[in-house]
Amino acid sequence: MTSSLHLGIVAHPAAHSLSPVLYRAGCEAAGLRMADDIPMTHDSARFDVFDVLPEDFSAFFQRMRAGEIDGVAVSVPYKETIIPLLDWIDPCAAEIGAVNTVRVRNGRLEGYNTDWLGVQYALREALVGSGKKITSWKWKNVLIVGAGGAARAVAYALREEGAHIFILNRTRQRAEEVAKAFGGSVVTLGGDDASNDAPRGAEDMPSAFDLVVNATSVGLETDESPLPISFWEERGNGVAFDCVYRDRGVLTRFLREADRAGWATVSGETMLIGQAVEQFFLLTGRHVDATVFARALSR
Ligand code: ATR
Repeated sequence: MTSSLHLGIVAHPAAHSLSPVLYRAGCEAAGLRMADDIPMTHDSARFDVFDVLPEDFSAFFQRMRAGEIDGVAVSVPYKETIIPLLDWIDPCAAEIGAVNTVRVRNGRLEGYNTDWLGVQYALREALVGSGKKITSWKWKNVLIVGAGGAARAVAYALREEGAHIFILNRTRQRAEEVAKAFGGSVVTLGGDDASNDAPRGAEDMPSAFDLVVNATSVGLETDESPLPISFWEERGNGVAFDCVYRDRGVLTRFLREADRAGWATVSGETMLIGQAVEQFFLLTGRHVDATVFARALSR
């Protein structure tokens, strides 16, 4: 690994990324000096936000190939499209079908997925949040809303935990693909909910869930929830976990509505913190504890 690191996050849009805050805190804790415009030295790192339009992505990728950048966090909308461009992909990332971390090593571009570790971390926090009502996710009824890359990372982590997985998605076919890949049942909301175009007659939902995860992108740019408000009163009261985060410390609508109905909540920031531990290690070779990243986000 080179001793001076040029790192960053590539996404579009990227303006609201919290990664620079995390990396600054991580570098401080690891004794890596953050360099902005000064030449990089032996023990320094630089972290840039690369807000790259899809039409400019290939040029950006060439900069990585040329060795100008040592590693990046990868976010929307490149987590899947970057895969065929890489030289090697970690088996977990391949199974999930999404890459959120790319490391350049000896001119080779390697892809990893640390999102599922963030989910695993959030799931542990969710056990704490349940007030010891739940002590493990094994055999627990879990609803995953969504069927994209984030949902696949959630399903991967929950399969590892031995949970009983149900999937609800606006486009039924994608839900079926996730159910097939990770073992689960496709469910529909029934009624006239506009966010669900699945035909009637799919397997009914269980009467209560221990965990409900928002793995859609709903709530990212607008204050909306992928579930009707009535859902929370009708389906027990376990833990609600949103992969989405918006403004620091502000609950998304999904979590606000769950909270009002008495559900415990875990935010997307928790997942971000959990995934940062492994991502920071992959990109810098240094281990920093999750508490460092948590403290950085709470400032
Ligand atoms: P990511 O990789 O971040 O998960 P994605 O693959 O684009 O992104 O997946 C986005 C998810 O959010 C999908 O489950 C999508 O539903 P569809 O499969 O039907 O597209 C879901 N989603 C996005 N906008 C939505 C909306 N307005 N209502 C309900 N679901 C929505």
